[in-house]
Amino acid sequence: MRLTLGDFERAARTRLDPGIWDFLAGGAGEERTLAANAEAFDRLWLRPRVLRGTTAPPETATTILGRSWDAPLGVAPMGYHTLAHPLGELATVRGTAAAARLPVVISTFAGRTVEELAAVGGGPLWLQVYCLRDRAMTRRLIGRAEDAGFEALVLTVDAPHLGRRLRDLRNGFRLPEGMVPANLEGHDFSSPAAHASTQFAPALDWSVVDWLRSVSALPILLKGILTDDDAARAVESGADGVFVSNHGGRQLDGVPATLDVLPEIVAAVAGRVPVLLDGGVRRGRDVLAALALGADAVLVGRPVLHGLAVDADRGVTDVLNILLAELTDAMGLAGLGDLADIGPETVRRDRP
Ligand SMILES: Cc1cc2nc3c(=O)[nH]c(=O)nc-3n(C[C@H](O)[C@H](O)[C@H](O)COP(=O)(O)O)c2cc1C
Repeated sequence: MRLTLGDFERAARTRLDPGIWDFLAGGAGEERTLAANAEAFDRLWLRPRVLRGTTAPPETATTILGRSWDAPLGVAPMGYHTLAHPLGELATVRGTAAAARLPVVISTFAGRTVEELAAVGGGPLWLQVYCLRDRAMTRRLIGRAEDAGFEALVLTVDAPHLGRRLRDLRNGFRLPEGMVPANLEGHDFSSPAAHASTQFAPALDWSVVDWLRSVSALPILLKGILTDDDAARAVESGADGVFVSNHGGRQLDGVPATLDVLPEIVAAVAGRVPVLLDGGVRRGRDVLAALALGADAVLVGRPVLHGLAVDADRGVTDVLNILLAELTDAMGLAGLGDLADIGPETVRRDRP
């Protein structure tokens, strides 16, 4: 019986080729940041309140960028879900829709087309954008997603090139024969790191937000913000939201856990735009902890691929349902009737 996201992780590992497993699971360098993301959640403890007359079950619905979500939870952008299951993002979007109305962020390197994903229906779809040297190709992708009904753009700003992922270097990782990004054309994509170093736009600066604004009417969120200065700059540049993310420890090893930098970013943003967080969210109580420290919502990455590898769309549904059940369980036991009841007083940092 699989009751936790850890159970899905262990089951997925036995099903995947070791090189693919390393690509999905691994981080950059010594994987300090990858480990820190998870550890940060374990340093927080909950402060439950009792006898509050809280009605059950707790209400988890929220509104982000004018759209209602069933819970403050979404699927982070990850390239090539087809590495975990041949149906790829199609199964992810179906599986998410079967769990709840939650957003899925589709990577620039998705293995399925934006049109077929939009046709599934379900919660909001957002497009993650890597700004390529070939701006015309980037622009075509954005236009197709917008036409298909995608609702926001998530520009990844922490990846001028891909981080040094030692597992992939040691394994000589290449995509399986025939696997290509379904929404891009014309490049050699076989080595993700080599492709990024030759094809990602070099020397991007804040004017890229203006460029995105000039090519699309969709809200623009910046993903990969880790300091208060950059968070403030993002808002001043007109971003409609920020993602506190270290790319799941896959980019600059040695940056802090996202949970640890969240408070300074929340302070800098000061409620002007939504703050989302990803990295190491593995339990309902992790969602609660991030919300207590000021996140509006969290996104979950690798566990969705584990669900996909184990049981296609049903595995994705199961993984998300576990997180949702754990969240309502924790809220109920902590005396929290809805998300507005969650605040800094919900957690403590020291060990009791
Ligand atoms: C296999 C894999 C592929 C990823 N691909 C992308 C991508 O294409 N674009 C992007 O912005 N982030 C990408 N990410 C980072 C995720 O969006 C997210 O920041 C991270 O996985 C969250 O951490 P978690 O896996 O611990 O939940 C990828 C992560 C993984 C594990």
